[in-house]
Amino acid sequence: MSAAGPPEGARPLRREDVRGAASAPSAEEAWRSAFELRDGELYAEGVPLATIAERYGTPCYVYSRAALEGAWRSLDAALAGVPHLLCYAMKANANLAVLDVFARLGSGFDIVSGGELARVVAAGGDPGRTVFSGVGKSAAEMRQALDAGILCFNVESAAELERLDAVARERGRVAPVSFRVNPDVDPKTHPYISTGLKESKFGIAYGDALPLYRRARAMPGIAIRGIDIHIGSQITDLAPYREAARKVLDLVDRLAGEGIRLEHVDLGGGLGIRYRDETPLPVDEYAAMLRGLFEGRAEKLVLEPGRWLVADAGVLLTRVEYLKPGPAKHFAIVDAAMNDLLRPALYDAWHGVDPVRPRAGPGSRWEIVGPVCESADFLAHDRVLDLEPGDLLAIRTAGAYAMAMSSNYNARPRAAEVMVDGDRAHLVRRRETASELHAAESTLAR
Ligand code: LLP
Repeated sequence: MSAAGPPEGARPLRREDVRGAASAPSAEEAWRSAFELRDGELYAEGVPLATIAERYGTPCYVYSRAALEGAWRSLDAALAGVPHLLCYAMKANANLAVLDVFARLGSGFDIVSGGELARVVAAGGDPGRTVFSGVGKSAAEMRQALDAGILCFNVESAAELERLDAVARERGRVAPVSFRVNPDVDPKTHPYISTGLKESKFGIAYGDALPLYRRARAMPGIAIRGIDIHIGSQITDLAPYREAARKVLDLVDRLAGEGIRLEHVDLGGGLGIRYRDETPLPVDEYAAMLRGLFEGRAEKLVLEPGRWLVADAGVLLTRVEYLKPGPAKHFAIVDAAMNDLLRPALYDAWHGVDPVRPRAGPGSRWEIVGPVCESADFLAHDRVLDLEPGDLLAIRTAGAYAMAMSSNYNARPRAAEVMVDGDRAHLVRRRETASELHAAESTLAR
């Protein structure tokens, strides 16, 4: 640690960091303290992270059940009085144990593939509370979802609508649909995760929506149920949400004027969180805006939150293999890499890095890098830490889009995943073995 006090990146999030927190944590904030220092070492709920590393090895993702439940419950409670359904966007983290935690709370799910639908079913989730997003649904995925009885297909183009109508008729079914409309609103976030601008591949152009609803009304394989948008991810500003929601509700009213009444309005996901120094939108402000918009309306509100529900509920636990001080930069080579956590390499994303057992020394500036053969293989730049080989580090806010985006690049087995529940740690995905990685391959017959 630096002599001048702990550097930003080496300090666990404390309660007072959460905007608006008073000395006593509110119910909403209590769950944010799932990973805290106790007697000089980092814990996940009641379990020392060092114990988890010992037992299951590193790299290892560690999730807190209390944090997952706390996040879901606080969003649900903030929307009390507004008829709503939370459909967890499981692309953020699709581990079965995570899905099970949400399913037990009565959550719905937002899926983007047949594989994700299979996971909902395997985890005991309810297909009847599942919406199917995505621009490229295959006919096979449509059949699978029709047979499972999902709540709704979020249709993104006229071509998809035609295919769905045909597939449903062939199957002797009627497909429930919502149209994902592109409201052409700038969410002011990273360009890779902006999805609601007219240049984007997502959704149906705002002006094309009404004619498409009219066409859909005449299709025997289609039942119109709703409308949806998703303007982007890691949004910290209320204004784009409000603007997009107003545009959508305006369409809903115009549809009603033509006798097309929708059952639900799905405003997508996108709620941002704090990775470093962002000021996330307080959930109560977001909920108050929604309450204002939906007061007196007949349609049910559907949301598709991903990151906000899971990001703070996970850390990536990694061990320092080597220290390699250099003439220009000092490298701390750890056993996690870009294949485990791609966000820094792909988006230049910032994740906090906390020592599991912090020392009081002044520390040095380290590049935290992995063993993969790419210069983009970094987890963090320029962090002041007092490190020794063998030290354990916790990479923060790694519950969302972390394990979910991992790969086997460099033939690296994917990390283990552990969920802590109070004083107990459960292995919820064992580490892959090297032979599993090539088990599905074969060489040419000789
Ligand atoms: N609904 C739809 C249709 C989506 O495409 C997404 C995310 C969500 C909901 C959930 O958004 P969230 O609440 O998580 O912001 N890999 C990127 C994020 C990609 C988001 C893709 N779509 C990252 O690591 O930042």
